Amino acid sequence: MSTSTTTSTTGQRGRSAARPAGRTPASSLDVDALIDDPKTRIVVCCGSGGVGKTTTAAAIGLRAAERGRKVVVLTIDPARRLAQSMGLTELDNTPRIVKGVSGPGELQAMMLDMKRTFDEVVLAHTDPERAKAIMENPFYQSLSAGFAGTQEYMAMEKLGQLRAADRWDLIVVDTPPSRSALDFLDAPNRLGSFLDGKLIRMLTAPAKVGGRSAMKFLNVGVGLLTGTLGKIFGAQLLTDIQTFVGAMDSMFGGFRERADRTYQLLKAPGTAFLVVAAPERDALREAAYFVDRLAADTMPLAGLVLNRVHSTGAPQLTAERAQAAAEALEENGSQNGSTAGSPSGTQGDASNASPTAPPNASPNASVAASVAAETLAAGLLRLHAERMQIMDRERRTRDRFVSVYPDVPIVEVGALAGDVHDLEGLREIGERLGGRR
Ligand SMILES: Nc1ncnc2c1ncn2[C@@H]1O[C@H](COP(=O)(O)OP(=O)(O)O)[C@@H](O)[C@H]1O
Ligand SMILES: [Mg+2]
Repeated sequence: MSTSTTTSTTGQRGRSAARPAGRTPASSLDVDALIDDPKTRIVVCCGSGGVGKTTTAAAIGLRAAERGRKVVVLTIDPARRLAQSMGLTELDNTPRIVKGVSGPGELQAMMLDMKRTFDEVVLAHTDPERAKAIMENPFYQSLSAGFAGTQEYMAMEKLGQLRAADRWDLIVVDTPPSRSALDFLDAPNRLGSFLDGKLIRMLTAPAKVGGRSAMKFLNVGVGLLTGTLGKIFGAQLLTDIQTFVGAMDSMFGGFRERADRTYQLLKAPGTAFLVVAAPERDALREAAYFVDRLAADTMPLAGLVLNRVHSTGAPQLTAERAQAAAEALEENGSQNGSTAGSPSGTQGDASNASPTAPPNASPNASVAASVAAETLAAGLLRLHAERMQIMDRERRTRDRFVSVYPDVPIVEVGALAGDVHDLEGLREIGERLGGRR
């Protein structure tokens, strides 16, 4: 029975993946060229949850600013420490200057406050009194706080606002951690179809018959409450929806129009999408979906950021040799446990892990020390072997992606030892993005 040993991670694209010999070359993504180009006005970082979108967006923002551009970064739910390091302690929904940026440019940052952005839209579209009535409506409150798709929609709304303000020459956008990839592209439509969905049409229909004024509509609406709909949906919810829709009626066109405009902005020259992914099977499968989806919407993809890639300082020491050396050491160690002996020479880079026993130590202590050193060295060798295996797996996963998407430029960003939670960490990620490490 013969089976293929390679399975495509990148889904059903129908193309058979050529088995790469060694590392498959991919064109490399030149992030510096992208952010240095004055024609680049918007960079959108998308990808599935936890892959490093927020980190990448912030790092690109910082790097672009330090290379001379006037940048604003729109982050979504940044980790607290990262937010603090960028001076984002206030949830005021407007960009603030980030301190500690060196170089000729300027960095401003903000985190998206979904509800406030929604409020801003309402305020921009209606008079204060009406706006107040809408904002006090419980249905509006729950919609603005977390209706599916609201965050995506509001991120796009905010992007539209930032672009319209025309105060920055580069806007870097983080995207919400949507479960379903690229939800934000659907957001305008989704909110639109919610607002003019069946239920809403049914509710607004009497208003159109009865007259155009919102008051008239509300009166008719009250009549409905005693009807079947009220029983199904609950009288209170229905009143809320009716009041809300009644008040939103005048703004409706505005919402759709704005959403459409932002959508067009995403397609315009000057916008670049970066798909962020971890070098793992599931993440790259998601990334493949993103690449396809962006292509389907003719959104301009700049490339793939492969984030948290593992590396080693001793690439010449293979996993097999490290493993064998560890075993040899352990064997030797168990013999040394009963007979005094000196540690045998180890291969590779583990030699600096062997402390030397003090000269005047007793023979027993010296044996114990050499056994401890061997155990430590063996442990390090095993760690190295494991890392080499991870790297190998990452490389194969990456190569499979490349074989299906040979035209997508890639930049690899190595994993930092710890979390990225300050400007220094962002700078380091930026250097890796710029291919300087
Ligand atoms: N290259 C990296 N090296 C080390 N840690 C990273 C790297 N990129 C991201 N992280 C960490 O991974 C976590 C998730 O990153 P984040 O940017 O919040 O992901 P996302 O926005 O896609 O959900 C954070 O704790 C971040 O500090
Ligand atoms: Mg995030």
